[in-house]
Amino acid sequence: VTSPRTALVTGATDGIGISIARALTSKGMRVFVTGRRSVDLPGLEFLQVDHSTVAANIALARKVTRLDVLVNNLGGALSAHRSETADSIENTIALNFVGPFVLTTEVLPLLRHSGSGRIVNIVSSALRMWRGDPFLDVLATEQFVPLQVLAHAKLLNTLWTLALARRLEGSGVVANAVNPGMAWTPGTRALTPELVPAWRWIWPIVRWFQKRASAEKAAQAPVFLATAPEAAAMNGRVLESNLKSMAVPPVVADPAAQDRTWELAEALSRGHR
Ligand SMILES: NC(=O)c1ccc[n+]([C@@H]2O[C@H](COP(=O)([O-])OP(=O)(O)OC[C@H]3O[C@@H](n4cnc5c(N)ncnc54)[C@H](OP(=O)(O)O)[C@@H]3O)[C@@H](O)[C@H]2O)c1
Repeated sequence: VTSPRTALVTGATDGIGISIARALTSKGMRVFVTGRRSVDLPGLEFLQVDHSTVAANIALARKVTRLDVLVNNLGGALSAHRSETADSIENTIALNFVGPFVLTTEVLPLLRHSGSGRIVNIVSSALRMWRGDPFLDVLATEQFVPLQVLAHAKLLNTLWTLALARRLEGSGVVANAVNPGMAWTPGTRALTPELVPAWRWIWPIVRWFQKRASAEKAAQAPVFLATAPEAAAMNGRVLESNLKSMAVPPVVADPAAQDRTWELAEALSRGHR
């Protein structure tokens, strides 16, 4: 009897993450999900983790003994005011970029051992909104505009994912980034017109569409990357929810920028390991 493939989905006690997790169990996988609040989720194995610190991501990685699929789903975290984690890293950057980097690099030996490991990093089309140099004001100490900081964090996460994919070439592990698209989740429910000023005048219309966007549908593209046989050889792709390639800023395709982002993640996490 072969044991089932094992997956870990972060920030997955609710929202898009739990939809991804449930879809993976329905495909016969053993699935671990993480969240801060203790919950009992039938069919899923819950690990209580607050991903905001480097140490917590390392501790989580040490609890896992087998892994075939890692879905770095946790993210978003738009907030009106700048805050820092216990590692003194700006919160949005910590959750969307540094955390996934630490967790992934820590579990990489397990994914390599899998023989067919898959890493799926959940990003957002918001990454296209960051127009500046990705390496300036990374911790948003000079300027904090909520949506811009999220865009910056998702851009860095995408750049780092592509650096990872290049390092994994030929290893039997693949890494891709995907925008799940809009879904009505705790993260979406917490949005306010102040957080997304561009939507201020069309707020009721935006909310009407958001409320109808299901997390099950948003889970589909990530689940495709995590399980589909035809995705087994896909590596270093940045996909939209319809599985087409995302139109990304030119910097995303620059290997030097990708490598510099890897070094940035290493530098931000180094003192806290
Ligand atoms: N929803 C959308 O419209 C949309 C669109 C594009 C991209 N995305 C991306 O898709 C991903 C999922 O989005 P979502 O809207 O489903 O997110 P969400 O609603 O904010 O996710 C909630 C889940 O994350 C957990 N969580 C939050 N902070 C955590 C922390 N510090 N440590 C551990 N778990 C934590 C929550 O559990 P606890 O509260 O118990 O911790 C809960 O299980 C994100 O990367 C987001 O950027 C979403």
